[in-house]
Amino acid sequence: MKHAVVILAAGLGTRMKSRLPKMLHPLLGKPMVAYGVETALRSGAEKVVVVVGHGLEQVREALKGYGGLEFTVQEQQLGTAHALMQARRVLEGFDGPVVVTQGDTPLTSVETLTGLVEALGHEGMALLTMRLDNPTGYGRILRDKRGEIVANIEHKDATPEQREIKEINAGIYCFDSHVWEALEHVSNDNAAGEYYLPDLIRVYRERGRRVVGLLSDDPSELLGVNSRAQLAEVERVLLSRLREHWMTQGVRMIQPETIYLEPTVELAPDVTLWPGVVLRGHTRIGEGCEIGAYCVLTDMELEPHVTLRPHVVAESSVMKSGSDAGPFARFRPGVLVEEGAHVGNFVEMKNTRMRRGAKAGHVSYLGDTDIGEEANIGAGTVVANYDGQRKHKTVIGKRAFTGSNSTLVAPLEVGDGAYIAAGSTVNKAVPEDALAIARARQENKEGYVKRLRERRG
Ligand code: UD1
Ligand code: CA
Repeated sequence: MKHAVVILAAGLGTRMKSRLPKMLHPLLGKPMVAYGVETALRSGAEKVVVVVGHGLEQVREALKGYGGLEFTVQEQQLGTAHALMQARRVLEGFDGPVVVTQGDTPLTSVETLTGLVEALGHEGMALLTMRLDNPTGYGRILRDKRGEIVANIEHKDATPEQREIKEINAGIYCFDSHVWEALEHVSNDNAAGEYYLPDLIRVYRERGRRVVGLLSDDPSELLGVNSRAQLAEVERVLLSRLREHWMTQGVRMIQPETIYLEPTVELAPDVTLWPGVVLRGHTRIGEGCEIGAYCVLTDMELEPHVTLRPHVVAESSVMKSGSDAGPFARFRPGVLVEEGAHVGNFVEMKNTRMRRGAKAGHVSYLGDTDIGEEANIGAGTVVANYDGQRKHKTVIGKRAFTGSNSTLVAPLEVGDGAYIAAGSTVNKAVPEDALAIARARQENKEGYVKRLRERRG
């Protein structure tokens, strides 16, 4: 019999101290709630129901890319049992096992979910527990002399002795179809005045139904996020899993614990990542690339054997084999750096193509520019691509050369092989093989300074 999954995601998340609904706090660039949703979908559930409340529209919006979800709204946050009650109208009549997870417990694996369904068998309820050295904040599991679970006591309601208990409720359950009726017997007579879902342990037992506890041997999987510190802890676990994965695939990481990457990133064997590298979005890095310290890449595509020196900040651009950039280069969206081209320090580019073997070694701004093969952009070259209203294009020919500190006023064409003299401001097309000089002529006033000095005595 297939199971259903209900994800509780309506809570206020006050302990995050944030305007952003807790469910939307990002973990490696993806909203927290999406992790639980993906696990539920992959577990082969027949139905996946998300209970939303706080930040309703935003949470729905964040999950709109996932098919097969049903939403139900908890108008008032009266507790986890009350939240589950909101799924009743969607699941009434469904008589398979009902798995309940919490949207703030994002690391739970598919195997753990399906394992819980198996542990349930045909009737009663099953829940995941774990032992924590520091169980503060979690519900404590009370067992009787025979080791049977008899109740869960929330931290707030626990006596000092009960707070010593290290076994806690992970907040992940599986119920038989009696759960709806059982929920009616949960009370809110407790420190928080809330309807507590784990109170179902008591209700099930009072009715002589089976309560099975499954003690997890991987507590990191069941970490709940209530605070910023726990969010950071969960992100740390996700990151170390990802790094491990890529290292097994042949990636070299120097000081791996300093490297940040998102699950959407793809890396090839023999990529080297130096400390402090940040890789985000759909960044893809080809074989043998070397990414220098503190590079930040978002949605970048690097073909094999590209070298980035330290501190390159780049997004939504492509670098072809054998090209290189940095240190301190900045790519804004739409840059294409072709084979063997070189981007040096303090070069900013946007919507620009550097054809094969072109070079821009130092301190430049290049926007909306097509730079010909083997062209050389001198230090301090600035393309004035914006007239205050519109952007214009600049085309620089093959093997052309722009002298230091030249300003190219777009729209502009510089012909193949042409030169621009240093310090020129060029706003007319430069023909092929011509030299353009556009600067005031120098005049030397002989003896001028000497006369000045003499006059002043
Ligand atoms: C809960 C459990 C606790 C367990 C811990 C594990 C209860 C009462 N306590 O505590 O035993 O050790 O999880 O992480 O269940 N939610 C709603 N509506 C509500 C309240 C909460 O949808 O009215 C959702 C929240 O969005 C969250 C989940 O339920 O995803 C758990 O709520 P939270 O307040 O975080 O419970 P904990 O104090 O962590
Ligand atoms: Ca929680």
